Amino acid sequence: MTPPPTRILVTGGAGYIGSHACLRLLEAGLDVVGLDDLSRGHRGAFEAISAAAADLPGSFSPIEASISDRSTCEAALGDHRIELVMHFAALAYVGESVEEPLRYYDNNTGGAISLLQAMNSTGVNRFIFSSTCATYGEPSTDRIPIAEDCPQAPINPYGHSKHMVERVLFDHAYARRAADPAFAFAALRYFNVAGSDPKIRIGEDHRPETHLIPICLEVAAGRREALVIHGDDYPTDDGTCIRDYVHVCDLIDAHIAVMNGLAPGDARALNVGLGHGWSVREVLEACRKITGHPIPERPGPRRPGDPPRLFADSSRIKGEFGWAPHFTELEETVATAWAWMKARPNGYAG
Ligand code: UFG
Repeated sequence: MTPPPTRILVTGGAGYIGSHACLRLLEAGLDVVGLDDLSRGHRGAFEAISAAAADLPGSFSPIEASISDRSTCEAALGDHRIELVMHFAALAYVGESVEEPLRYYDNNTGGAISLLQAMNSTGVNRFIFSSTCATYGEPSTDRIPIAEDCPQAPINPYGHSKHMVERVLFDHAYARRAADPAFAFAALRYFNVAGSDPKIRIGEDHRPETHLIPICLEVAAGRREALVIHGDDYPTDDGTCIRDYVHVCDLIDAHIAVMNGLAPGDARALNVGLGHGWSVREVLEACRKITGHPIPERPGPRRPGDPPRLFADSSRIKGEFGWAPHFTELEETVATAWAWMKARPNGYAG
């Protein structure tokens, strides 16, 4: 067994999930290089991580660059003697991906390939990839909860752009076997990610915001008038869509568990979710309870491409890597997101 890595490159390190990864890795005493082109990530996130790192055992080096900038990636990998890459940098708006597919394939698929080439030329051979349940598309009801062997059939360019990276990874791992039998990767297929660092050092700040929980909280914070429920006539108990919301810190713990358990030659795909879901109305009620605000709602049309029910069978990562989520109550997750929004009403902007 190879010893767990201690020097990690986190791409998308100034984004929502990547910034939480940087912080958790630093807390675990690891040396972290955060790479982000700051097109969607926040300089403020890098600053907050750097400030927190002063009191943490690990070291933090932020780099402002794109994953497609191969020479800068090679320099970062080589100069910092990186042992494993956690790759979060990506464009992640489904609607935008339909309007600008070339941008999504270029950034998400082409960028990942460029990063893998940089790893190849610098001898870095461990990779954890931020994949998505969007690679499953709209699974038939008899495949829910969704296990990893559920057919992957994305229904939008975002899902395809991520699915293609998985394909590339399996092919690349196969091809590398002769030259580098230790090359190993895991693609973690996230379901819905929510919540913020419980110490409120960093948090979720998407521009524009499209996700359910922050939108409910923005209503409570007086930044929006009402939650528009995108469809209330789905075949679920209350007519609204059901999703599996995993806390961002638990998601990062999943990465750390896989990072530490990855064996040479591994080529893995693993779901990360709680294994059950909450409806849009249940999420709205949890947000009302935590904020004490009535959060008005309005009915709206269905959003194209929203499957009625999506939740994970995560038994593989739990059984094989010992991952166990701590935030199992939706209200606990919402409470951390609300604490961040109250502390930073304008996110990283102030
Ligand atoms: N919703 C509303 N009103 C809103 C926002 C969301 O009713 O204002 C509903 C959506 O229609 C959906 C549920 O709340 O039923 C959750 O929506 P999110 O946008 O929060 O999350 P998604 O399930 O659409 O998206 C997640 C990830 C994406 C990924 C997608 C795959 O955030 O990155 O799953 O299906 F692509």
